[in-house]
Parts: sequence; C-alpha cells; structure tokens
Amino acid sequence: MVVLGIETTCDETAAAVVQRLPDGRGKILSNIVLSQTSEHAAFGGVVPEIAARAHVEALDRIIAKAMQEAGIGFDALDGVAAAAGPGLIGGVIVGLTTAKAIALVAGKPLMAINHLEAHALTARLTDAVPFPYCLFLASGGHTQILAVRGVGDYVLIGNTMDDAIGEAFDKTAKLLGLGYPGGPQVEKEAMAGNPERFALPRPMHGRPEADFSLSGLKTALRLEAEKIAPLSDQDVADLCASFQQAVVDVVADRLRTGLAIFRGTYGAPTALVAAGGVAANQALRKILHRLAFESGTVLVVPAPELCTDNGAMIAWAGAERLALGLVDTLELSPRARWPLQEVAGVALR
Ligand code: KG4
Ligand code: ZN
Repeated sequence: MVVLGIETTCDETAAAVVQRLPDGRGKILSNIVLSQTSEHAAFGGVVPEIAARAHVEALDRIIAKAMQEAGIGFDALDGVAAAAGPGLIGGVIVGLTTAKAIALVAGKPLMAINHLEAHALTARLTDAVPFPYCLFLASGGHTQILAVRGVGDYVLIGNTMDDAIGEAFDKTAKLLGLGYPGGPQVEKEAMAGNPERFALPRPMHGRPEADFSLSGLKTALRLEAEKIAPLSDQDVADLCASFQQAVVDVVADRLRTGLAIFRGTYGAPTALVAAGGVAANQALRKILHRLAFESGTVLVVPAPELCTDNGAMIAWAGAERLALGLVDTLELSPRARWPLQEVAGVALR
C-alpha cells in the first residue's frame, strides 16, 4: 500500500511517499521538507499569511519532487493523505485542497489526517510499536500525555494548562535575543551554561494529575534576566541552561505521574513514545530514557527529522487509516482546531 502525504499546517511545506507493507511495517520512499524559517525569522515567529502564500508557491514542486524520488506516478498510489488540521487555516486549506485535487483526478481515496494523530503514529512507521503505548507529544502548539490504544483511539492523560513546551522554548529564545525557532538555539546555548545558576520554579511539581503549566517558568526567567541586564554571553548561556533544566525536571515529574496513571488504567505500555519537535532536544531525550527504564518499558523516539513536521508522518497515518478502510469524502472541511480525542476512527483492542 503506497500513500502520498502532504503537510502544510505550519511553516513546513512537505510531501512524502510512504509504503505500508503487508506485515504492518513502514518504508519511506521519499520525504521532502521545505522549511519557511527564513521567511518568518525577521518576525520572530510564524506569520500565517506569509506561510499560506509560501505553501501555495512551493507545494506543487515539493509534491513533484516527492513523487519523482519515489520513482512512481499518481496512478501507482493507493491513496492521498493531507493534514486537515489543527493548524494555521490558510496553510491547511492549501494542502488539503491540493490533496483533494490529486485524489479526484487520479481516482484515489482521500485520507484527511489530524496532524497530532500523525505525530502519534510515527513510531509505528519507524519502529512498528504495537498498541497500547504512552505518547509524550511536545511541539510548538501542544504538550500532552496520551494513551494510544489504536488507530483513532487516543485518550488524553495530561495536557498543558497554558503554554506548550516548544512555545516556552521559542519565547525564551525571543526574550534572550536568540533566533527563531527557539528550541534548537536554546539547546545550543544551554550546552555552555550553568543549569544551577538561576533558581527557576518547577510548576505543578508533585500534583496527582499529569498536567503541565509552563507560563510561570517563562515569567520567572524574564524576571531573572531583567535583574542582571545587560546580559553577557555567559548570562544568556546560564539562563538557557537553567531554563532547560527546569523543563527537564518538569517533564520528569509530570511524565512519571502520567506513566503511573497509564499503568493503573490500561496496564503496562508497550513503550514510551516521544513525538513533536521538542523531542529533538537531547537533554529531554536523556530524561525520557530514564523514565522509560524506571517504569519498566522502552523509549521510542523517531529520528529528529521525523519528530519535526514532515510529510512521511502524514502519509503513514493515511496508510494506517486506509488499511482499516477509514477514508474521507472530498466534502471534508479543514479545521484550525481539532483535538486528538475528537479524531473519528475505530478502536483496535
Ligand atoms: O512539531 P513541530 O515541528 O511543529 C509543531 O507542530 O509545532 O515542533 C516545533 C517546536 C518549536 O517550538 C521548536 O522550538 C521546538 O519544537 N523544538 C525544540 C528543539 N527543536 C525543535 N525544542 C527544544 N529543543 C530542540 N532541540
Ligand atoms: Zn507538528
């Protein structure tokens, strides 16, 4: 089963062709990602209108390249998948409309994919992880702990009450005059910094539910930075290191609680899976390893280029849905907001 996947929900224009083998394993035939970072950098964040226009300009070319690298034509596809939300609506419309056009002309089924579902299922493309697993989804817009029990069967265990972790990294970078996107910059600075210099809070520590709160941490960092301004290079590195350490401690505490809730409700998870752009962070990966080990399971983290937004994850989610007969009609509308728990599907148990 061969599926084309299109991703345009944020600032990456991406297309990929993925194959799902009869035994359920996945194979990436092509995976093309065009980042718009340079077009948004001057604004310190993604500008929705610029993003939508850039998707329009690039998408046809990116799809052609993905098909060419895979060495197939549209007629060889079994289906066409596109992220239909959640995300910046202008971009989502561009990707979904393009997918509908290809599906219509080539006479192939359309799979409208929830972007978060695609992040959630990527570990099955790379590592064939069986259900049920515990997912830690940390991106620019989301910070959630989920029980992934089947395709279309996602239960929310923990959620952020304010900022997402990626957003906190991005805001920290902006405050300290580092570039956009902030996560990789803060991580780089943190390597040369002292994580113990600034006493930042660990919000929600020890709470019995598995929710997150990041906005207090961001405010505390701003106050510390203001106290010692103007900042030297070492100050910036120390602030980044202290911030990253606080995030690591928060994730350790919240995820430990989340894993215990998972175990108590659904039994032992087959794995702890991390997904979303923030999962590219090395310090976080280290603590995730420890948490998985402590709770008697294994950590699965897709390669960094499959953690950040890409077309392969959309194509794979499409293939998983197609294999279950879950296809969509051309009438389907894009959605700016689309919580993962609202994804329609079937439960595999
Ligand atoms: O999943 P993603 O590519 O896009 C969204 O769907 O949001 O995640 C992007 C987020 C950004 O906030 C970015 O700063 C963060 O992931 N990120 C990182 C790192 N690489 C990307 N955060 C911390 N450390 C990193 N190395
Ligand atoms: Zn994403």
